[in-house]
Amino acid sequence: MEISITRASLEEKPVVARLLQLCLHDYSAHDRFGIGDDGLFGYRWSDLYWSNPHRHPYLFRVEGRLAGFAFVRQREEDEPGDWRWQIAEFFILRGLRRKRIGMVAASALLRSRCGVWEFAYDLSNEPARLFWRQVARSFNGGHTPIAVGTVRECYHVTIEPEEANKAPEPTTMAVTPRATSRISK
Ligand SMILES: CC(C)(COP(=O)(O)OP(=O)(O)OC[C@H]1O[C@@H](n2cnc3c(N)ncnc32)[C@H](O)[C@@H]1OP(=O)(O)O)[C@@H](O)C(=O)NCCC(=O)NCCS
Repeated sequence: MEISITRASLEEKPVVARLLQLCLHDYSAHDRFGIGDDGLFGYRWSDLYWSNPHRHPYLFRVEGRLAGFAFVRQREEDEPGDWRWQIAEFFILRGLRRKRIGMVAASALLRSRCGVWEFAYDLSNEPARLFWRQVARSFNGGHTPIAVGTVRECYHVTIEPEEANKAPEPTTMAVTPRATSRISK
């Protein structure tokens, strides 16, 4: 099974927007987002992923077919926090879950840039909590979650330069489950 992670192009913005709706629908089961009167889940940061150089949209494909997406962002200079990179949103299509696709995609994303990564989740989203715990454990183990207010938690994982792939702005990462990820331009 080959999992590819590609930076979403401007032409793919509508594709990401549709996957984002599915993702927000899943989040809504955990009370985080509500649907609007227009039948859409609102998400005010969407456009920034195609206009702000600190924001990076990715699409995941398995054997060439859409499997999910992620939004990655870099902390703004005037923004508080001791992380450099953050996985802001992360989604795998329902029919493809529990096959380690998320694990492989998240690991590959983390390895794409060195520095401190943050990934957060709502405590009410039990699958996300268990998933991110597994991701954190796969990097040096021993990570404990950090409370974010009363309803959220996050992990901070440091990717050392020698752990990171040597492509700071990957266009495509082709990865195989349970194998070391590699990046190809
Ligand atoms: C959370 C999510 C990304 C997990 O993706 P996935 O591809 O199914 O996860 P993986 O198969 O890589 O799971 C890796 C490990 O995480 C844990 N895990 C993942 N989903 C789980 C679930 N529903 N219940 C319990 N444990 C789970 C398990 O330990 C799993 O390993 P195992 O299957 O060998 O037991 C996916 O369920 C999803 O897209 N959910 C909706 C959006 C969302 O909540 N995203 C997270 C935002 S913070």
